[in-house]
Amino acid sequence: MRDARKIISSIEQLPPFPQVALKVMEMVQDEDISFRELAKVIQLDQSMTANLLKICNSPFFGLRRKVSSVQEALVYLGQKYFMEVIMEMASAGYFREGQRGYDLAKGELWRHSVACALASQLLEKEIGLQESSLLFTTALLHDIGKVVLSEFVAEALEDIRRRVDEGASFLEAEEEVLGVDHAALGGMIAERWSFPEEMVRTIRLHHRPEEDWEGLTPLVYLADILCLQMGIGTGVDGLQYRAKDEVLRRFGLGDRDLMGVMVELEARLEQAEAMINLN
Ligand SMILES: [Fe+2]
Ligand SMILES: [Fe+2]
Repeated sequence: MRDARKIISSIEQLPPFPQVALKVMEMVQDEDISFRELAKVIQLDQSMTANLLKICNSPFFGLRRKVSSVQEALVYLGQKYFMEVIMEMASAGYFREGQRGYDLAKGELWRHSVACALASQLLEKEIGLQESSLLFTTALLHDIGKVVLSEFVAEALEDIRRRVDEGASFLEAEEEVLGVDHAALGGMIAERWSFPEEMVRTIRLHHRPEEDWEGLTPLVYLADILCLQMGIGTGVDGLQYRAKDEVLRRFGLGDRDLMGVMVELEARLEQAEAMINLN
């Protein structure tokens, strides 16, 4: 086994999660938050404000009158959509490179992440669960561990492959060969960024839904599988592309429901891409 400590200490090199986005995440958990207060926080970050206005004023939205303040942007987008844009802006930087260890070309893991975030919301609605303000961001960052682990996976790919040939899953092989898998590492990153406990847990357990039935984990797990089934962010790790039956049973979902979600996801993803690429 390689030195897991070296891998774990390398997460310190990741830039901290933008403070403003953290604050917004904390604020929206409180139901009585006003647009004015939210706008005030975003305004503290100049580049985020500039990008937000740029997105709102892009041809994608085709507004006749220019949006010129954060508060206007909030009113225009609505709190939910606004949050999505902010979290995407805060997270995109981490996914700029490709992840060669996972055979993911530049942009693929980002696309997978956005798709997973959108899918998790569609599933939440389909199942009729109460909306969670943390779900989108948690799903968006579920594979953040891959960003750091990728280089170490690339170095040890031969050993990992051998373990997979012997019958281990890629995730198990990561753990066995490197001493830590991307989910556990992602959990550590989330902890370092002071994310709420529920987000840390979900990121850590996103391949093991049976360990967190009450939390967001099964939703993110299922959203991840749907994206992989659709070929979005399918890399070298060959994770199971079929959801565990127990998850589907608990949610009361059948193949037809999942197909419906996939169709909707395709449209939502196209829309999101048109919007984010402008940035
Ligand atoms: Fe994963
Ligand atoms: Fe994933």
